[in-house]
Amino acid sequence: MGLTTMGKDGLQVESVALSDVAARFGTPCYVYSRAALTAAYGAYRDTLQAHGLSDRSLICYAVKANSNLAILNLFARLGAGFDIVSGGELARVLNAGGKAKKIVFSGVGKSRAEMRTALEAGIRCFNVESASELEQLSQVAGSVGHRAPVSLRVNPDVDAKTHPYISTGLKTAKFGVAFDEAFDLYRRAASLPHIAVKGIDCHIGSQLLDPTPAAEAADKVLALVDRLAAAGIALEHIDLGGGMGIQYRAGEPAPSAADYLAPMLAKLTGRREKLVFEPGRSLVGNAGLLLTRVEVLKPGAEKHFAVVDAAMNDLMRPALYDAWHDIQRVGADSTANPMSYEIVGPVCESGDFLGHDRELALNEGDLLAILSAGAYGMAMASNYNSRPRAAEVMIDGASMHQIRRREDVAELFALESILP
Ligand code: LLP
Repeated sequence: MGLTTMGKDGLQVESVALSDVAARFGTPCYVYSRAALTAAYGAYRDTLQAHGLSDRSLICYAVKANSNLAILNLFARLGAGFDIVSGGELARVLNAGGKAKKIVFSGVGKSRAEMRTALEAGIRCFNVESASELEQLSQVAGSVGHRAPVSLRVNPDVDAKTHPYISTGLKTAKFGVAFDEAFDLYRRAASLPHIAVKGIDCHIGSQLLDPTPAAEAADKVLALVDRLAAAGIALEHIDLGGGMGIQYRAGEPAPSAADYLAPMLAKLTGRREKLVFEPGRSLVGNAGLLLTRVEVLKPGAEKHFAVVDAAMNDLMRPALYDAWHDIQRVGADSTANPMSYEIVGPVCESGDFLGHDRELALNEGDLLAILSAGAYGMAMASNYNSRPRAAEVMIDGASMHQIRRREDVAELFALESILP
């Protein structure tokens, strides 16, 4: 929300008309704002500063939300660290100028090859999620002559009250070490010669609009940190994950970074550990939109369809989570009458919708902006139906920079071969 303004040529991002972006780069196209990305990062940094925590905290952007090199590079320039979940994300971050010493590596199923690469790169910490992972990491570290810096991701059994697919902090989830087993696993970790115990982390879910569950999880984590310290295991950092929700719908009560972090930070003042956060969505979600064009209007007896050139393969969130994204017409005036439309893509599935029941005045050829698409949009895009992935463009003031060109069809099957 809040990314676009209405100018004389219709909706614009910063000083660039979206119609100019479409004319130059085509549609569908992801459009991001450098100023919005910078502001979202600034909100975290300023909040930490206001609590006197600037020099002992690190904001590790969760790369999975949007892993475009230009975005990673922008955050690296702003001083961010990174939360990665694969060797692929590690390679991206290093390629984009991120510092290994600021990378934390999350994920329930790291391969031995990924462990080795990350050890050799010299990352800051492995967020270990199980007893077996700890043993495997210890072996791999031994085999390459390193000590692996480790944090245990504990599962605090707190209900994040968000969509079940993005809720990760309950006992029933595959994530993290069960809270009751964490103390013993720390003792085991401390006894392993190729493991260096560094910290603790937790992440209870995503799109949290209320900070209470996160603060509750922080309480549990801090109690464990104190119990470990009493047993002689002093941790250097506490990583409270990501999860802050954003506003998708006008009026939705989304917190500011200051409001979301305050209850957690209140518990952390006066402590000596360093702090890490892993925000993804809240740094990029409202800094991006998906620009698409209406191909066909298809009035029906029950429903009117607007078939656009973006589809579920470009933005999967509506199909997968029943997520709601605001959809606005880019043009300033319309000759059409407003009607309720199903905004759908060309993919051959009834689940291929981008919005239901949207009141819009549309003509064929009109441009639409699907808002709040900066997080988990392009990052989750696929080539389903052999559709080339969209172009990505970054607006910076009055300039537009293509940060990923549209795929061409030949690239989609370039890795395939036919039988001899
Ligand atoms: N840290 C860990 C360990 C995570 O698993 C995640 C997200 C984050 C940080 C970042 O969380 P955020 O600040 O973005 O909420 N595809 C879904 C969201 C999946 C989130 C997965 N984990 C969606 O489109 O809503």
